Amino acid sequence: MDTKIIKIDEENIDEALISQAGKIIKNGGLVAFPTETVYGLGGDALNRESSKKIYAAKGRPSDNPLIVHIADINDMDAIVLKVKENALKLAERFWPGPLTMILKKSDRVPLETTGGLDSVAIRMPVHKTAAAFIKAAGGYVAAPSANISGKPSPTSAKYVIQDMDGRIDMIIDGGDSGIGLESTIVDLTGDIPVLLRPGYITVEQLREVLGNVDVDKTILDGDCKERPKAPGMKYRHYAPKGELTIVEGQALAVVEKINELTHEAERKNKKVCVIATDENADSYEAGVIKSIGSRNDEDIIAHRLYTILRECDDENIDVIYSESFDSAGIGQAIMNRLLKAAGHHMIHI
Ligand code: TXA
Ligand code: MG
Repeated sequence: MDTKIIKIDEENIDEALISQAGKIIKNGGLVAFPTETVYGLGGDALNRESSKKIYAAKGRPSDNPLIVHIADINDMDAIVLKVKENALKLAERFWPGPLTMILKKSDRVPLETTGGLDSVAIRMPVHKTAAAFIKAAGGYVAAPSANISGKPSPTSAKYVIQDMDGRIDMIIDGGDSGIGLESTIVDLTGDIPVLLRPGYITVEQLREVLGNVDVDKTILDGDCKERPKAPGMKYRHYAPKGELTIVEGQALAVVEKINELTHEAERKNKKVCVIATDENADSYEAGVIKSIGSRNDEDIIAHRLYTILRECDDENIDVIYSESFDSAGIGQAIMNRLLKAAGHHMIHI
């Protein structure tokens, strides 16, 4: 398949191109598009054949449900059984934005889109190109992240092209994704809301609006034997090709340990990378040192994480050692993704 690649500037949207992209979706095709979190791989959420195509293009297991993207809060009505009070409160505060809510689905959403579940995940992105595209596509765009299953989500068109060229009809290049980590997911189907995937909107912010919010135990705990409630969170994910290990402890001890490990790996002729904070970057002695940003600016760390993991693949890195990060606020999302990328392989010193 020939994949058409177009560029759209969020601040000066080319309506003719957006309408072309929308038509592809209406005709059952697939288009990758930018959002504020990561790039999405879009298809018509109400067309079961489109959802099947998405799974095929990603190489994704079909029990892993897709998020339905909307561009108007009122469009939620048609795809859920009932718009709950707490969903409205969250929508008022955080939509459009990086928050996904799970509610019981209506019959309009095919089971192919929800991976066989009777609930549906819904998000309204704030990215202007995403919103214009969703409208042009008919209002309901099912979209997982636009990566081949298992790889880090793409935060720039370059990595969407690397994974999806030849597999889908169109890729909209909208530059870098601002946030760089996928949306926060909250399940509102039960009596108490449950955080299923941490993201830029933190559990503290959700609690400000909802009061009580539970947190799925599997988010940071690698030994937890329970199954994550978001089916997608159980798969090996966000993973670079190289073997990633997180080293946690006092800064000086971490630097010393990583230096010992990188020297040892280089002696074995491995290509090594260190994911370092700005504060420590100069102290590393061996391997490719990738500075992820200052410890004091977690937004930058979130923004850079997937790009660095992808760069490691581009550079054929065999072994990666990463510092650990604070797990409060958005740090919870950063550590959740980093732990998954590392298969929960962590050294405590
Ligand atoms: O930021 C994002 O959310 C991006 C952009 C493109 O919007 N999308 C994204 O989609 O990350 P994806 O498919 O990579 O991740 C969706 C997650 C999966 O872990 C999936 O299992 C979970 O959401 N999910 C979707 N529907 C669900 C449902 N009904 N119940 C529980 N989990 C659900
Ligand atoms: Mg994904």
